[in-house]
Amino acid sequence: MVTSESRTGGVVLSDLTKSYGEVQAVRGVTISIHPGETLALLGPNGAGKSTTIDMMLGLTRPDSGTVSLFGSSPAAAVQAGVVGGMLQTGSLLGYLSVRELVTMVASLYPHPLNVDEVLRLTGTTEIAERPTTKLSGGQTQRVRMAMALVADPELLVLDEPTAALDVEGRRDFWTAMRAVAARGKTVVFATHYLEEADAFADRIILMARGRIVADGPPTEIKARVGARTIRATLPGVDDTALSSLPGVMKADQRGDAFVLTCSDSASSDTALRALLLHYPQASDIEVRGAGLEEAFLDLTGDDGVESDEAPRP
Ligand SMILES: Nc1ncnc2c1ncn2[C@@H]1O[C@H](COP(=O)(O)OP(=O)(O)OP(=O)(O)O)[C@@H](O)[C@H]1O
Ligand SMILES: [Mg+2]
Repeated sequence: MVTSESRTGGVVLSDLTKSYGEVQAVRGVTISIHPGETLALLGPNGAGKSTTIDMMLGLTRPDSGTVSLFGSSPAAAVQAGVVGGMLQTGSLLGYLSVRELVTMVASLYPHPLNVDEVLRLTGTTEIAERPTTKLSGGQTQRVRMAMALVADPELLVLDEPTAALDVEGRRDFWTAMRAVAARGKTVVFATHYLEEADAFADRIILMARGRIVADGPPTEIKARVGARTIRATLPGVDDTALSSLPGVMKADQRGDAFVLTCSDSASSDTALRALLLHYPQASDIEVRGAGLEEAFLDLTGDDGVESDEAPRP
C-alpha cells in the first residue's frame, strides 16, 4: 500500500543489472532520488537509459537488484497512480480521439487532473477531437505527455520526451514540466542533450555502457563533458605548434585539417583568438561542443574505469 508517509522514501534503485543475451544493458546501477528532485539520465545510444527506465516502471524485470518507488514495488506504484511514464516508443490506442483517450486514462486513476487543463498544458487542445491515428510524431509525443500528466503522479518518468518535438514543442514541454516540478513532483527524464539536462535538471546522472560514470549537479557534469573542439583547415602546420597555443589541451591532425580540443568555451575563445592571430591562413573554421560520445569515451576509456571491457569500435 502506498501511503503519503511512505512517499517520503523517494526512489531507490539498488544495484540493478539486466542483460539481453550477450549484451549487458545495465551493469550495477544504484540511484537514490529525493522526492521533488528533477533528475536527468544522460548518455549516448545504448548507454542503458531506457532499460533503467523500463525497470523503474516495472516493464522490465531486472536480473538482479531492486527498485523501490516511495516504499513500494513499481507494479504497485504504477497501479496506485503514483507513477506516470512516457516511453520512447509505442503507439497510441486507436479508434479514439485525443480527448477520449486522455479522458479514459484519467478515469483509471483516483485523483486525476482536469482533462481540459491537461490538454491546454500539453498544447493538444486544438487536436483534441482528432483520431489518435492521424497525428504527427510531435503531436503524438504531446498526447503521450498528456497521458502521463493526467494521472497527476508523484513521479514522472520520461524517456527522451522531447525527441520528436520542434523548438516550440520543446519549449511548451519544459514549461509544462516546470509546472509539474514546482508542485513538488519528482521527475526523471532520459536525454542525449547536455544542454537540456543542464537547463532542466537539478542533478545529472551520466550513463555509458550500462554504468553510471558521473553523478552530480549540472555545473559539475558540464565541467566534465563540456569540452569544445575547433576544427580548421591549415596545411603545412606542425601539430606541436598548435597544441602549445593558449587554451588548447591537444591538437590532432586530420589530413590538411586540425582538431583542437579545449576544456570549455572560455578556453576555446582564447584558443580561437590565438589561432587567428598566429595562423590567419586558417580556413573552414568550426567551433563546437564535443559530442557526448566523445566525452564519454574520455570519461570511460582513458581513466581505466571500464578496463574490464574492450572499447567499442
Ligand atoms: N529487448 C532487447 N533485446 C536485446 N537487446 C536490447 C534490448 N533492449 C535493449 N537492448 C540493448 O541494451 C543496450 C542498452 O539499450 P537501451 O535501450 O537501454 O539504451 P539507451 O541508453 O536507452 O539508448 P538510446 O539513447 O539509443 O535510447 C543496447 O546495447 C541495446 O541494444
Ligand atoms: Mg533509450
